[in-house]
Amino acid sequence: MRRSLILGVGSALPERVMTNEDISKIVDTTDDWIVERTGIRQRRIACEGETTRSLGAAAARAALAHASVDAAEVDLVIVATSTPDRTFPATATQIQSDLGITRGAAFDVQAVCSGFVYALTTADALMRAGQSNCALVIGSETFSRILDWNDRGTCVLFGDGAGAVVLKAGEGKGTVADRGILASRIRADGRYADKLYVDGGPSTTGTVGHLRMEGREVFKHAVTNISSVMEETIEASGLKPSEIDWFVPHQANRRILEGTAKKLGISEDKIVITLDRHGNTSAASVPLALDAAWKDGRIKPGQLVLMEAMGGGFTWGAVLARL
Ligand code: UT7
Repeated sequence: MRRSLILGVGSALPERVMTNEDISKIVDTTDDWIVERTGIRQRRIACEGETTRSLGAAAARAALAHASVDAAEVDLVIVATSTPDRTFPATATQIQSDLGITRGAAFDVQAVCSGFVYALTTADALMRAGQSNCALVIGSETFSRILDWNDRGTCVLFGDGAGAVVLKAGEGKGTVADRGILASRIRADGRYADKLYVDGGPSTTGTVGHLRMEGREVFKHAVTNISSVMEETIEASGLKPSEIDWFVPHQANRRILEGTAKKLGISEDKIVITLDRHGNTSAASVPLALDAAWKDGRIKPGQLVLMEAMGGGFTWGAVLARL
């Protein structure tokens, strides 16, 4: 059976660190409130010249180096982002060009915070269908550029960054002992579009707009949606939650990711948490967390990793892979 193997991971973060203390000089908030309600202590903010494209290309280069794969082998580039450099062309085509790749396909996926899970699922499907042999899946965002820096309910939550993985086609026996992506599920329910959205766009206002969120409403749906899609994904693979080695969740809120892990009976020491350092980096948060735990030696080859995310739309999903 054809499988998509995850061979390497990489990330890139802007130089500039913004602490909760720094934010408390911009809006009426405190370090205590942000830490207690979210777990976030600091985030990175892109400076002039740092963009979704530049961060995404840097993360992709790091992932290729980690996987010992040459850019010339890549025949598919997917970028998950809601903050592209331009409305079009897709940021993926620009990163493809930055890496000197001139063949195959390149496109963006827009599923907000679930973007990386959507992109990974899409790349896996194309790879298993024989349309790609080597793919770069990138999550890259500069949410600082769509935040309303007067709205304390949202501007304290997000940060900028990028993460990427390299996938290569391989053969497996079709069992859970195979390496590669074992199962994934993606979901959407557009009735909730007005709970988390950007109030601008090319076809409506002709502007970029600002992020708007009813935080408490999103929170309410997050734990339920994420746990159900995680359960479905694990069940589809034939494994049990207790067999998962590492839980690599979207980094939106510490209370959400601990709540979902608890619901599935995944113990706290298996959760990879980076939101204290990165904040919520939307589509970049899962690959940024995967990079942190793989590079510091916690995640080892052969282990089972469960990734999940939920975001605007609403969209949500999960991917289970053996590294
Ligand atoms: O990645 C996409 C998915 N996004 C998410 O998953 C985000 C989900 N939502 C959340 O993480 C949480 O709802 C938040 C962290 C956004 C907010 O936490 P909360 O516990 O739901 O707080 P709240 O919105 O109910 O606000 C509680 C109080 C309010 O004051 P009153 O009305 O009780 O007097 C807010 O005005 O906290 C106030 N508040 C703040 N205070 C200090 C809101 N933002 C701040 C702030 N600093 N930054």
